Amino acid sequence: TKPLRIALAGLGTVGGGVIRLLDTNGALIARRAGRPIEIVAVSARDRSKDRGVDITRFAWVDDTTALANVDADVVVELVGGSDGPALALARATLAAGKSFVTANKAMLAHHGLELARAAEAANVALKFEAAVAGGVPVIKGLREGAAANEIERVYGILNGTCNFILSKMEAEGRDFADVLAEAQALGFAEADPSFDIDGVDAAHKLSLLASLAFGTQPAFADVAASGIRHVLTADIAEAASLGYRVRLLGLAESGPAGLFQRVHPHLVPIDHPLAHVTGATNAVVAEGNFVGRLLFQGPGAGDGPTASAVVADLIDIARGEFGPAFAMPAAALIEQAPADSGER
Ligand code: HSE
Repeated sequence: TKPLRIALAGLGTVGGGVIRLLDTNGALIARRAGRPIEIVAVSARDRSKDRGVDITRFAWVDDTTALANVDADVVVELVGGSDGPALALARATLAAGKSFVTANKAMLAHHGLELARAAEAANVALKFEAAVAGGVPVIKGLREGAAANEIERVYGILNGTCNFILSKMEAEGRDFADVLAEAQALGFAEADPSFDIDGVDAAHKLSLLASLAFGTQPAFADVAASGIRHVLTADIAEAASLGYRVRLLGLAESGPAGLFQRVHPHLVPIDHPLAHVTGATNAVVAEGNFVGRLLFQGPGAGDGPTASAVVADLIDIARGEFGPAFAMPAAALIEQAPADSGER
């Protein structure tokens, strides 16, 4: 059978993870996908860097955007950044009539609608399971599993770095700056860690979840976000004495006044499941009118979990299973007025 041929842009933590995953589980994946999934070409900033995987077996492409034109079926983008090379590659790939898989929440939060339209026009896949909550299949969960439901609310812990910091501050009584350095060393943080700690990364992800949950056009500009920079160890201790834990939550709710999308530190009652999510874990709660309350939880970052989500998308494409990028065709997504969150 004909393999699904992949061109891979970005050989950082996640790119290396995708190569290792396909090397390790390739035979199993081929059985599940109905055909082998093979990387044929790669592109990254530095060809000679030691990544612990052999990349000499793949064609090397210097200019990332040119990956759109290699002889492949799918381009996987793990470069990051809302604009720049990632966006140029996305546009060129879809214009060339090839499917596109990405972990790039920032790009989709800003340009998701445009890219979804381009994918539909070309009748190819645009998939992004890895963009929200890493290895946790929350995109598939909302887009497919809960597709029959009216979703009332979606909220959760969307940034592993912040959750790691808050749970360490609580457990060890350490201060914010001290734990931030440790989180960065673990490799979960964004290239610009202010995206993590100021709530921007969580806001990117929330805008995608809200679109899936409510059938609205993804609109990052409508998310009000504040982060955890000003949370003190003393605040966390005070909250604990009152029966609460501090968690950075993203929350989206659709009501008569519009779509409410907000990221900020919350007091979570100790008997709520989100109070027990510690470390770099992510967790998303979605409430549907027939299914009830769903909880998706698991590793939100790191090479293995994120690669797992990327390759799940590739398996869908290999099987020919894909629909519109978001909850419905782009033309049907509603442009909804933002509710006043009181923060802008
Ligand atoms: N910086 C992100 C986090 C990585 O800490 O959750 C995964 O998107």
